[in-house]
Amino acid sequence: DGTHFETITVHTEADKVGIVTLNRPKQLNALNDQLMDELGQALQAFDADPAIGCIVLTGSEKAFAAGADIAAMAKYSFADVYKGDYITRNWESIRGIRKPVIAAVSGFALGGGCELAMMCDFIIAADNARFGQPEIKLGVIPGAGGTQRLPRAVGKSKAMDMALTGRMMDAAEAERAGLVSRVVPFDKLMDEALGAALIISDFSRIAVMAAKESVNRAFESGLSDGVMFERRLFHSLFATADQKEGMDAFLTKRKAVFQHQ
Ligand code: HXC
Repeated sequence: DGTHFETITVHTEADKVGIVTLNRPKQLNALNDQLMDELGQALQAFDADPAIGCIVLTGSEKAFAAGADIAAMAKYSFADVYKGDYITRNWESIRGIRKPVIAAVSGFALGGGCELAMMCDFIIAADNARFGQPEIKLGVIPGAGGTQRLPRAVGKSKAMDMALTGRMMDAAEAERAGLVSRVVPFDKLMDEALGAALIISDFSRIAVMAAKESVNRAFESGLSDGVMFERRLFHSLFATADQKEGMDAFLTKRKAVFQHQ
């Protein structure tokens, strides 16, 4: 499947997890408009596929993605990028994906690569992962949420440090700072990410989507509004068959089998 893509490959695991692998190895998965278009299409196709419950986005051992494609960007003028919305035009499509997207990061996640990982719902890192926002070294700044999502993830001081010095964080620092949820040896990375994705896929899809929506709401609202939003979603889940199944399975000491309705 996915043979029509040139810059990514697409697979499924156990018919319920979608896997997208960034595949421009010679450029360390540098992100150009074609790759971002293909990534958006692949993610939207998995989001629309009723069999799929969770998506994993990964790269190679050496690089998740070394950033936006500098060779493609270097020649642009302000007028080019502003009028054409070049480089940035299709990044926000990832935000519209309603099923969970896990980033499985090995090697470099720099610039747009770090921003792409942060657009995912959570990051599982290999012990060789390196995160950074080195755009300052190129005479620019992050352009796909790096100055916005990084401070939300790691706080102001470390985000400023990263954005102003362009230094890289290793996996241990990223885990201490809360940027990544887990760190595992590289050879366990895909097992760990797929394990999490398979667990998520078997839960009520409605509850999973509601949980994602509600956590994301925390970054868009004040506490009172966020708590009210969560309460409304929580109450609404009592209208699902999955809530009856989940609670009955607990009380009768059996494994729940969710029908996603
Ligand atoms: C284009 C890139 C690239 C990039 C690496 N390559 N990163 N090409 N865009 N972002 C290419 C190199 O030119 C080289 O091509 C090949 O990949 C291997 O890279 P090397 O540099 O030889 O590897 P290494 O010495 O191991 O160093 C790895 C690295 C370094 C530390 C990751 O490549 C690096 O610093 N890359 C740039 C990182 C960066 O600045 N990212 C931010 C980009 S701006 P050849 O042909 O020589 O073999 C950005 C803005 C986001 O992301 C905006 C979003 C909308």
